[in-house]
Amino acid sequence: MYLTKEEEVLLKGEKGWGYQLAAKIVVKLGDIFGATRLIRITTAHIAGVSYKSLGEPLIEFLAELVKSGCKVSVPTTLNPAAFHEGEICAHKATLKELERQKEVLRLYKKLGVITHASCTPYYFVKVRRGDHVSYSESSAVVYSNSLLGVWTNREGGPSALASAILGKTPNYGIHDPENRKPKLKVKISGVEKEVEYGALGALLGEALENEIPLLTGLKSISESKLKQLGAALATTGMPSMFYIDYSNRRKIDGEKLEIDKRQIRKFHENFTPIATPDFVFLGCPHCSLDELRKIAKLLRGKKIREDICLWVCTSPQVRKRGLKYARIIEKAGGRVAAGICAVVSWIDANHMLTNSVKASIYARKVLGIDSSLAEIKDIIQMIAK
Ligand code: F3S
Repeated sequence: MYLTKEEEVLLKGEKGWGYQLAAKIVVKLGDIFGATRLIRITTAHIAGVSYKSLGEPLIEFLAELVKSGCKVSVPTTLNPAAFHEGEICAHKATLKELERQKEVLRLYKKLGVITHASCTPYYFVKVRRGDHVSYSESSAVVYSNSLLGVWTNREGGPSALASAILGKTPNYGIHDPENRKPKLKVKISGVEKEVEYGALGALLGEALENEIPLLTGLKSISESKLKQLGAALATTGMPSMFYIDYSNRRKIDGEKLEIDKRQIRKFHENFTPIATPDFVFLGCPHCSLDELRKIAKLLRGKKIREDICLWVCTSPQVRKRGLKYARIIEKAGGRVAAGICAVVSWIDANHMLTNSVKASIYARKVLGIDSSLAEIKDIIQMIAK
């Protein structure tokens, strides 16, 4: 891979261990995947923030980077933490664990990272079509490539951090226009509700390897449905983006696949809501202002059942902008938790009810608890009067 003089200097360690490590990571990745050079990125987003998930090794690694004097060189954001400053919402964390999570955020801040932890950086960091970026949150990767026309591979936490430090990423994968072409046509029928779009994403992810699908048979779809589709697609599969052909006329040389109502219904049979969930999680991926407004409208003047804990997760920025909606939700007995995610937090629950296919899968796989799925309006009807 071709390196400039400046990149060679970093790789040789002449600017310190942190920059050298960052250069080694991106060069190694570039060599493995056949990149020819490094290209500039405009922003980066790092997963790998939860102390609950990563523990002391994360702190030790970040502390070494800080000690070496390196900093990120482009605007860089963070994924949700297990707990965020000002948000004592963890159900069963010890004080020591909360302190250690704070330490992770403090170290990221020292590296120059914006610590408003959220998995939806696209709601508060401006990007333009054609920007190359390095994102390591899979739902944000699919959303940004597909809906915003941004170019990002599915990075791991360390490679996104390395790219953030250098301000560059190797030009392989989805940074190459050839690799952004749709490879497979999928005919969809019978998908209407938001949770059905999540199910569609999960079924697509299971059916595809990493081929980019071109979806047909759909009518104009809201942003929140597309967000659920992309998040679920990235949960069960590896594609970094999808296209939708609303005209149903576009031709591509690729296999054809069909997904219909019967498959969607079958998927949902595995997530049928029960009458006694003890935990409700909305905001996976983190709520937009519009979603916060909709939840507040449904909860206005109501009270949530006392045996149910409701978390509505969003970014600190969206919570601030939607403070009046957050107050309505909290008056009803819910909690608008900014900067955190139930899946990487210390929650004490047996059954999660959610509108998010991604969260329902992770509840079982990561938290080891049961989970079920319903539309937001049906959830509110079940849990509040
Ligand atoms: Fe975000 Fe957590 Fe869902 S990181 S996408 S809220 S699992």
